[in-house]
Amino acid sequence: MTLLKAATEVRENAYAPYSRFKVGAAIRGKSGGLYRGCNVENVAYPEGTCAEAGAIAAMIAAGETEFIEICVIADSPSPVPPCGGCRQKLAEFARADVPVTLATTDGKQVQTTVGELLPGRFDASHMGRA
Ligand code: THU
Repeated sequence: MTLLKAATEVRENAYAPYSRFKVGAAIRGKSGGLYRGCNVENVAYPEGTCAEAGAIAAMIAAGETEFIEICVIADSPSPVPPCGGCRQKLAEFARADVPVTLATTDGKQVQTTVGELLPGRFDASHMGRA
């Protein structure tokens, strides 16, 4: 199954009664495994989680810690960029050159990379004196 198809399918399961904005994400682990996530909102709004975070959690739960590709899809006028927090979460588990496909349900696509999404990221080297 392609990442785009997996992200499209899982998006249908998003729980987004407050924003009504459903997002699906699919990632390909280094082992070849496919992991899916969708946004899960909460009446206490800040407790909601993004689709990307759900896909990462599924990968970690399956015992993998690195992914080599990701696709995110939403029904939006232009492909939705991951939020700032998700960019840091993605950078934790992927090399900077890992391809990111951002898609809309009506067929638009933008290609970028994990590194382009988060230049100057905070990483473990910054804690070198800790
Ligand atoms: N959202 C995601 O799941 N991923 C993104 O990349 C952008 C935003 C969700 C969070 C919230 O449930 C809804 O979209 C509106 O912000």
